[in-house]
Amino acid sequence: MTDHDTSDVLVVGSGLAGLAAALGATRQGDDVTLVTKATRPEGASSWWAQGGIAVSRDDPEQFKDDIVAASDDTADADAVDVLVENANDAVQDVLFETLAVEFDSGDDGPDYTREAAHSEDRILHVDAATGKHIHVPFLNYLDAHDGVEIIDDTAALELIRHEGRVHGAMLESDDDVRPHFAGSVVLATGGIGELYPRTTNPDNATGDGIAMAALAGADVRDMEYVQFHPTACVVDDADSTTGADADVAFLVSEAVRGEGGLLRNGDGERFMPDYHADAELAPRDVVARAVTAEREATGEVRLDVSPVDFADEFPGLADRCAEHGVDYDEGIPVAPAEHFLCGGVAVDDRGRTTLDRLYAVGECSRTGVHGANRLASTSLLEGLVWGLRAGADAAGNDADPIEAPDLLTRDPDLPDRFAREKFHRLRRVMDEQVGVERTPADLNRSLALLRRLKGEVDAYVRTRTSRSLYELRNASVTALLIARHATENTESVGTHNLVADAETPTAD
Ligand code: SIN
Repeated sequence: MTDHDTSDVLVVGSGLAGLAAALGATRQGDDVTLVTKATRPEGASSWWAQGGIAVSRDDPEQFKDDIVAASDDTADADAVDVLVENANDAVQDVLFETLAVEFDSGDDGPDYTREAAHSEDRILHVDAATGKHIHVPFLNYLDAHDGVEIIDDTAALELIRHEGRVHGAMLESDDDVRPHFAGSVVLATGGIGELYPRTTNPDNATGDGIAMAALAGADVRDMEYVQFHPTACVVDDADSTTGADADVAFLVSEAVRGEGGLLRNGDGERFMPDYHADAELAPRDVVARAVTAEREATGEVRLDVSPVDFADEFPGLADRCAEHGVDYDEGIPVAPAEHFLCGGVAVDDRGRTTLDRLYAVGECSRTGVHGANRLASTSLLEGLVWGLRAGADAAGNDADPIEAPDLLTRDPDLPDRFAREKFHRLRRVMDEQVGVERTPADLNRSLALLRRLKGEVDAYVRTRTSRSLYELRNASVTALLIARHATENTESVGTHNLVADAETPTAD
């Protein structure tokens, strides 16, 4: 048997869902190894979450109704029940009691805010920078916890599978690849931002967990439901904290519209009332489509923050405007950017995938809660609730070392230019053919282009093991899954926005 490591539970990914899974497992007495590609907390999408975490206040049924309505009636009712009925306990337990997160509050308790498509103020927040105020204390808490080992700058390349059961993963660290065997593996690898030129995700969101699970034979569902956030601030000189080809500077939280911010087109006209009765507070997919249409028609869209006490209520965003030379008094230039994948690895109410001892939580999973379009500020909540449940369920199994796949003797080198060029092609296809608007003909074209690209990448994967090559492999597998599911779903619903093209009429 080759050199290897073991633990009871292996968690892959360090966002809120992965941390919650580690907590859930260690509370059962299991020893947990959590590996992450990130080298800083900012490497996880959770750190970047702005709006907050929705909770169920006096009327849980109304919260459920809002989730289902935002999803265009496609959310799974049982999954929504699990989310809402566990929301308050999970938040009280982990965020208030364990981590003592100091949410914004007033004399009467927490200052709940509202975002688009919520029918009441129910979102706990810290300024509009909630993610980091949860993520950093959570990382510190687990780091200091006996029984949890956090290893950064480490990527999972492949799952180790034998006869339908997952036994661990091949981990790469500093060009060294070795097997890590575990009683259970929890995937918490986050989103797919690197597949699109405009994204609100941090770098390295390459769909790793989805690709690894799919290649190991797990069911993957709802991949066509890619959510675009309508208001990413776009500037010409944006650096690439958010994706290589991007002009996105930073996300402007929906909370700004919740507090009164208005969208205006290039002619200075407010347009959202023409698109939806809830105007700026319509569901995210509706606003993203409207912003796209108005940018095309009038050249630009700006978020007018004059009805809001912007500097006082959103000091973090005001600072980011200043950093990027944006004068918010003139309106913040915005465009839709890839934000969240509603589908992913299919899981049940405890995060169990269709493969034995493999779990998935957070954005890489598909619980059914979001259906075709996610309600704002439910992603941290979903990660927390499912993370705790999956971690607890994953505990109690011993690692069982078996023969690992032979990734050990290969040439680790890969020309950087190769990965850059392929990623550039992949993003162009996804942006032009699998973006906010999709036509049947474009989707068919994207399938052909992505198949060819994946074939070129696979030829290298047979002989090399570099992390960037596996990220490219994962991105191309994930992109192909999105394009395939989008091609197969002929119903225009939620984020899957089919428009007719000259060649093929749409079903609706
Ligand atoms: C936002 O603050 O607008 C993002 C919140 C979310 O993605 O749920």
